[in-house]
Amino acid sequence: MTRILFATSEAVPLIKTGGLADVSGSLPAALRDLGEDVRIILPAYPAALVGAGHLRHLTSLQVMGEHVSLLEGRMPDTGVTVWLVDAPALFEREGGPYVDEHGQDWPDNAERFTLFCRVVVEIAMGRANLSWRPDILHGNDWQTGLAIALAHLESQRPATIFSIHNLAYQGYFSEENFRALQLPEALWSPASMEYYGQWVMIKGGLAHADRLLTVSPSYAQEITTAAFGNGMDGLLRHRQDRLSGILNGIDTQIWDPNHDRLIPASYSQDNMLGKSINKSALQRHFDLPEIDVPVFGLVSRLVEQKGIDLVLAALPDHIHAPIQLVMLGSGNKQYEQACVELVHRYPHQVGVTIGYDEVLAHLIEAGSDFFLMPSRFEPCGLNQLYSLRYGTPPIVHKTGGLADTVTHCWPQTLEDGSATGFVFEHPTATGLSWAMGEALRCMARKDCLQRLRQNGMRQDVSWKNSAQTYRQVYQQAMQDKAIA
Ligand code: ADP
Ligand code: GLC
Repeated sequence: MTRILFATSEAVPLIKTGGLADVSGSLPAALRDLGEDVRIILPAYPAALVGAGHLRHLTSLQVMGEHVSLLEGRMPDTGVTVWLVDAPALFEREGGPYVDEHGQDWPDNAERFTLFCRVVVEIAMGRANLSWRPDILHGNDWQTGLAIALAHLESQRPATIFSIHNLAYQGYFSEENFRALQLPEALWSPASMEYYGQWVMIKGGLAHADRLLTVSPSYAQEITTAAFGNGMDGLLRHRQDRLSGILNGIDTQIWDPNHDRLIPASYSQDNMLGKSINKSALQRHFDLPEIDVPVFGLVSRLVEQKGIDLVLAALPDHIHAPIQLVMLGSGNKQYEQACVELVHRYPHQVGVTIGYDEVLAHLIEAGSDFFLMPSRFEPCGLNQLYSLRYGTPPIVHKTGGLADTVTHCWPQTLEDGSATGFVFEHPTATGLSWAMGEALRCMARKDCLQRLRQNGMRQDVSWKNSAQTYRQVYQQAMQDKAIA
């Protein structure tokens, strides 16, 4: 049994801004089910304090002049142990985990995540008065990069893993911040966290971890190129022998069309009747005519990564045909506004909800005929996996995890049972428009859509295989550390 300290800044169902939360909720549970001893460690945001059940005070620490309590709770759905780093002055505030209610970064983010990382390291080094010490410190994304870097300054440290969920978010701060937080001088170097005079949190993980992971094999390749590397491709090429990609799985209990309490009618591969009931409910929800026309769905953060502008640009090619489009998302104000304008223009064909809505996300997965995910880049992506499971063939750009999880519907792949959706090569409106046309042609043909749905629903999108691969990487990291 390996002891794993899983450090993350969000985890479902306590706090979520994106897929990192889904993974932090479900991967530790999958590892626990394989017999590993996993503890999640998370800042004690108000929602986490409320959601993590009955809390037990474990220990107190004095870190950076703050009195910090470590509280132990349980993840509500899975029972996995979660440790909350309670520093009220830094984490107990309304707003998001990284931004205030106006969407502005918290001005003290450097301090907040430095404190979090320092506490993680105290626990990892057995200096927190606990009877437990990890064999593995597993950090996720920039918020935990400093913990990896600090751990590597210690002699009796655990082996370290750093997972990149999205290289576009790096945590840039100033040299002034670095100095004010009195961090070790050794970390202020281009070989460590310094980058052209800036302090970059993610570099702590990228430069130092025993093993680097990302969330799909294709993205692991892509980030070693200038086009996808966000300035870190040189470093990642240098560390390529330590870098690999493991596909995310999904929580197959939360996302199961046969037992989903959030949708009006359940359904399965053997009985798809419920899917058309959900389609009607979806059309009703958006005040669209309840007619038998192809419905395209989208659930997304509305940011450049996700290719929302491609949807807006490709739509005129198809909107004169009898189709409907439903969208749920929030983010960039311009995209939000452009989506809302579509509803004014095509009130009988387009429905849009701006905001975050878990229940509606399930209804869109269940009630749509096709799911749009034209991301410019996508480290893994979860929504296309939910779509496969819900018999809603995804339409995706051939990138990252989308390329690794969706197989285009060609005559040959339909024949051999591997086709699961529609994949276009270039992130352009023309590419997306072509793929939407292919989807419409498939729907017009006898059996094509049914076969695609069945193929998708047959895929194993659980954590079963991936969690095993994580265990192998943990073993490798422990060996690497022993040799180093
Ligand atoms: P990313 O993490 O880049 O946003 P993923 O596909 O990995 O992309 O994960 C996104 C997660 O957030 C999914 O669980 C998706 O259903 C959810 N999500 C995104 N936007 C919304 C929204 N507006 N309402 C409800 N859920 C959303
Ligand atoms: C990031 C990525 C997304 C991935 C998720 C979980 O938010 O954008 O592709 O699925 O992390 O790993």
